[in-house]
Amino acid sequence: MTSNKIALVTGANRGLGRSAAIALATRGVRVLVTHRGDAAGVEKTVEQVQAVGGTAAALRLDLSDVSSFASFTSELSDQLERWGTSRLDIVVNNAGVGIFGPLEDVTIDDFDTVLGTNVRGTFFLIQSLVPLLAQGAHVINVSSSLTRHTSPATSVYSASKAAVEALSRTLAAELGPHGIRVNSIAPGPTATDFNGGAMRDDAEFRQVLAGQTALGRVGEPDEIGDAIATLASEGLRWGTAQRIEVSGGAFL
Ligand SMILES: NC(=O)c1ccc[n+]([C@@H]2O[C@H](COP(=O)([O-])OP(=O)(O)OC[C@H]3O[C@@H](n4cnc5c(N)ncnc54)[C@H](OP(=O)(O)O)[C@@H]3O)[C@@H](O)[C@H]2O)c1
Repeated sequence: MTSNKIALVTGANRGLGRSAAIALATRGVRVLVTHRGDAAGVEKTVEQVQAVGGTAAALRLDLSDVSSFASFTSELSDQLERWGTSRLDIVVNNAGVGIFGPLEDVTIDDFDTVLGTNVRGTFFLIQSLVPLLAQGAHVINVSSSLTRHTSPATSVYSASKAAVEALSRTLAAELGPHGIRVNSIAPGPTATDFNGGAMRDDAEFRQVLAGQTALGRVGEPDEIGDAIATLASEGLRWGTAQRIEVSGGAFL
């Protein structure tokens, strides 16, 4: 199935971003995949997209460097032109960072890194991309199940994702008149490098998390990638300002 659509996926050199890029490509969407210096990782993503018959191109983007967004969007436009278009149809704001610890251990640098990447970076990237968004475009912001339930030592990260959800709803209202939808997707614990790979590699921790979900296990990256691609599909074209949780039923 080809769709002629083009998606930008941030943080696609590994983890959920890579899975989202592959899932979108499987559905015929051409993908622009970003990394912030992991050229080998993003190249692997491009190869995996090509292996499913898709088309991908890599771009460099550091979300913490808002001043670089003008040159990023210019490079993005050049790539779109090479693909015979000037517009993006889907943006997956996936890149994000988690630093975890109890209240007394959180440093100002930790706080600024998490909020600066997940909220400031995501917000100003959306602002920079609006002129490139097609009529009917869809912005998908990756949040976390931690905005609905609580776990100790996650306060700053959870707050950053709550902010992502709040800005998603407000931007859905602001951009709706331009035909642009904005939704957030909230994964539960998923087996990637995230949090030092604990959800993938720490058997004891995985068991604890499994006991907190209705489906009795942690998620796999392709399950989140498929969920993102499904949310991006035309079948959900009437949905905006929504939060979709894919956590296997965490803390019901
Ligand atoms: N895995 C989970 O359990 C889980 C659950 C809920 C939500 N999430 C969210 O899902 C998203 C992807 O997580 P993941 O599991 O794939 O984690 P991951 O394996 O740690 O990947 C994070 C991605 O974000 C990128 N990134 C971090 N800071 C960046 C910056 N300043 N500029 C550009 N890119 C940056 C990373 O780039 P580098 O490779 O250069 O570091 C990497 O590509 C994140 O937003 C995360 O908060 C994850």
